[in-house]
Amino acid sequence: MYTPITSAHAAEPPRKPWTVPMLADAKRGGRRLVMLTAYDASFARCMDDAGVDLVLVGDSLGMVVQGQTSTLPVSVDDIAYHTACVARGLSRALLISDLPFQADATPERALDASTRCLQAGAAMVKLEGAGHKLEVIRFLVEREIPVCAHLGLTPQSVLRLGGYKVQGRDERAAARLREDARAVAEAGASLLVLECVPSQVAADITAAVSIPTIGIGAGPQCDGQVLVLHDLLGINTGHRRPKFVKDFLADGGSVAGAMHAFADAVRDGSFPDAAHSYE
Ligand code: KIV
Repeated sequence: MYTPITSAHAAEPPRKPWTVPMLADAKRGGRRLVMLTAYDASFARCMDDAGVDLVLVGDSLGMVVQGQTSTLPVSVDDIAYHTACVARGLSRALLISDLPFQADATPERALDASTRCLQAGAAMVKLEGAGHKLEVIRFLVEREIPVCAHLGLTPQSVLRLGGYKVQGRDERAAARLREDARAVAEAGASLLVLECVPSQVAADITAAVSIPTIGIGAGPQCDGQVLVLHDLLGINTGHRRPKFVKDFLADGGSVAGAMHAFADAVRDGSFPDAAHSYE
């Protein structure tokens, strides 16, 4: 049975529950954001107790929970179910739900899927890409649905990309990423996940946009960092382990310790280091 770590943190004042406007305040104040994925109430509660700021019900659940080879088979029903489970474990962290493959193909479909996520307990939805998704972002934001954008390696594009590869390596691709980042922020996104991009490209984007950036394989200069729970805990999911993954259970000694170690390393800027980033 998990026991929250209290001794080292007992003196901390109660922390306010996160709201969407607090994200921009965090960026302005230079406070790094700590984000993890979760799929059930028990792990979500551990994260909340460990001071994780943002919890994502990622469509990574297709790979790490369902044992699929990609995120493409994940449905809105799956995301809504896991969102409701995770929501029951949280009292402070901001809950974000992924819109699964093609649930955001049109503004109307995205609105239906997002409404289900918010009614299940999420405060924000995440969607991949720019291009025609800019219209979707605007449509959702105008209808009071906060949006997290996701650029760089977008796993729902795996068939077009031909695999899970670092994005934005040449100057043309990097310029396109910078342009897309500005566009999703202008369309009204409140947060931006950058996955598998060279550190300098992520640093430039982070400096250029007013919304917080959350990196995963995007170097240390993002406004926050995210890891998939199973990667944080060193669990072998049968998939190739990317360079940016670090097993925090080895450092932390327990599940709660791993979450605290990750949160501390993100906040003090020691994770990710060069060994867990791309040039
Ligand atoms: O689905 C997911 O878990 C994600 C994170 C890797 C950011 O999108």
